[in-house]
Amino acid sequence: MSVESQAGRGPEIENLLAEKRTFPPDPAFTARANVTAAIYDEANADYVGFWERQAKERLSWYTPFGETLQWDLPDAKWFVGGELNVAYNCVDRHVERGLGDRVAYHWIGEPGDTRTLTYADLLREVSKAANALLELGVRTGDRVAIYLPMIPELPIAMLACARIGAPHTVVFGGFSAEALSGRINDCGAKVLITADGGWRRGKKVGLKHHADEACTDAPTIEHVIVVDRFGDGVHMVPRRDHWWHDIVDRQSESCPPVPVDAEHMLYLLYTSGTTAKPKGILHTSAGYLLGSAFTHWAVFDIKPDDVYWCAADIGWVTGHSYIVYGPLANASTGIIYEGAPDTPEWDRWWQIVEDYKVTILYTAPTAIRAFMKQGETHPAGHDLSSLRLLGSVGEPINPEAWRWYREVIGGDRVPVVDTWWQTETGMILISPLPGVTTTKPGSATFPMPGIEADVVDADGRSVPLGGGGYLVLKRPWPAMLRGIYGDPERYRQTYWSRFPGMYFAGDGAKRDEEGYLWLLGRVDDVMNVAGHRISTTEVESALVDHRSVAEAAVVGKTDAISGQAIFAFVILKAGQQPSDALGVQLREHVAYVIGPIARPKYLMFVPDLPKTRSGKIMRRLLRDIAEGRALGDVTTLADANVVDTIRSNTGQAEEE
Ligand code: PRX
Repeated sequence: MSVESQAGRGPEIENLLAEKRTFPPDPAFTARANVTAAIYDEANADYVGFWERQAKERLSWYTPFGETLQWDLPDAKWFVGGELNVAYNCVDRHVERGLGDRVAYHWIGEPGDTRTLTYADLLREVSKAANALLELGVRTGDRVAIYLPMIPELPIAMLACARIGAPHTVVFGGFSAEALSGRINDCGAKVLITADGGWRRGKKVGLKHHADEACTDAPTIEHVIVVDRFGDGVHMVPRRDHWWHDIVDRQSESCPPVPVDAEHMLYLLYTSGTTAKPKGILHTSAGYLLGSAFTHWAVFDIKPDDVYWCAADIGWVTGHSYIVYGPLANASTGIIYEGAPDTPEWDRWWQIVEDYKVTILYTAPTAIRAFMKQGETHPAGHDLSSLRLLGSVGEPINPEAWRWYREVIGGDRVPVVDTWWQTETGMILISPLPGVTTTKPGSATFPMPGIEADVVDADGRSVPLGGGGYLVLKRPWPAMLRGIYGDPERYRQTYWSRFPGMYFAGDGAKRDEEGYLWLLGRVDDVMNVAGHRISTTEVESALVDHRSVAEAAVVGKTDAISGQAIFAFVILKAGQQPSDALGVQLREHVAYVIGPIARPKYLMFVPDLPKTRSGKIMRRLLRDIAEGRALGDVTTLADANVVDTIRSNTGQAEEE
């Protein structure tokens, strides 16, 4: 089976071949661009020396580092012996340089309330929040869990942790109580920072009851800090729970940043893999900060007067690297919007671009496709002329969406950068450099300066130009993950064992005759739904957890908006009858166990599943069935009748 068919992206490949247009950089953009083509040669001639220079220029150190890189595959140490503080680098030093009045964030609440935080405001708020954590007994090295909507307290809480060297783990607000407690327990967090809730699509979405439920199952949590977003009051557990406005507001505005080792853990972020247990991806301080800051500067061509908007949620890695750490290290001005793109109308984002004169917008293909579906009238009704650069991340962007983004949002004049990276990579690794790279719609183009990527066959041999295979990375990079929390063997196995000496990203890729990289999606059992990785096994476990379910198999089905949609095949226990109501119940059960993001869009009750003679579920056949296409090789199937029975049923796959 080819990588393309494993990845289930057949039609995209045809599109890709049909796509012939290229977009050379605009000379006016090039004239002002932060980088020139020379940066590739400079970085690739001596990548360690390149990162050494970057680390000296871009970061402020308490103790200078000695060796730049100690590389004992798969363990990297960058900037050995150096000491710094990440919050100091993101906030204090800008204020010390006289930039206290510069806006760090324009925050926009969904109902229309707004807040502006300058760097001086941020310094004050972060220091107070850090003092509150100290008062609650949090010490350098202790883990803090953060479960918040997109409100200013979210980046403030992250920076407060960084200020005292307490690693944070941010759990996306859309995750369930069970997902939250699982993450808290994996890392043994001592304090949880949450809120009564946040606004989404005109509704108050509560978080505190999930937090409470999670805490009943998370014995390490000693204290909970609760942000009051609604002012409606919530149940507070005496001695454990503290309102943010009580405990933070009364603190001193001075809290000296704690110098930490370059390799001190900055945060954990949990992500899906091929098993049901999410992995705690471990990022450390200096290398991560440098990687996010450098790439933010080079890829987004960031200038002091830019108004930069990364429209991701801070709960995902995109928000960590490109709303919080990279942009703040560069003293840039950003937008944070709390709510949904269609509230009150589908032009909410374009209104924000117009109101704040946004110059750079970074979002995901799933959002772009959702906007495309709404037509051009919404963007056409707003002045988008302030935009000068557009970015995409999270999944392969189809050429139509790429062109629409450039033409309709970018007025056919601004560069589009399609950026490939992962929670594990911490920073953008494959992307055009605006002003330098000639782009092709749908291609992430080339590895970033200093990064060595390759496309290899099943034996790890580089495929010739024009061929497809597995995407690998052949050199360490500063923001790379340092491990999976508490599980070094899983780290080695997952990323470094498939191809000896190389990092395997789990993605398929193709390289065209000119060496451009085209990402083809995941080749493992991980789905990409609306730009978020969800493991098939995780959803299956959630289904089987329901008392009526005997067995379940889940695959990703191509979806016009979300890239992939979750398709679940469910076998009921004896005596249980399939019904629409049960279908709804099972979907809700998955949403309850993992979070609404994992709720299957399609669910089909089946009498049996296609298996090999050794009993392994043949997912590729299920994918063929879900996509409604001809079946691939069925010779290893134990019982051919099973597939026929399922196929004759597909019409009944119930769509949400
Ligand atoms: O499959 C790739 C896809 O998203 C995966 C990483 O997901 P996550 O760790 O959640 O991080 C998402 C945001 C960085 C990758 O393995 N992916 C990400 N960006 C792209 C992409 N696929 C194609 N093109 C991209 N630009």
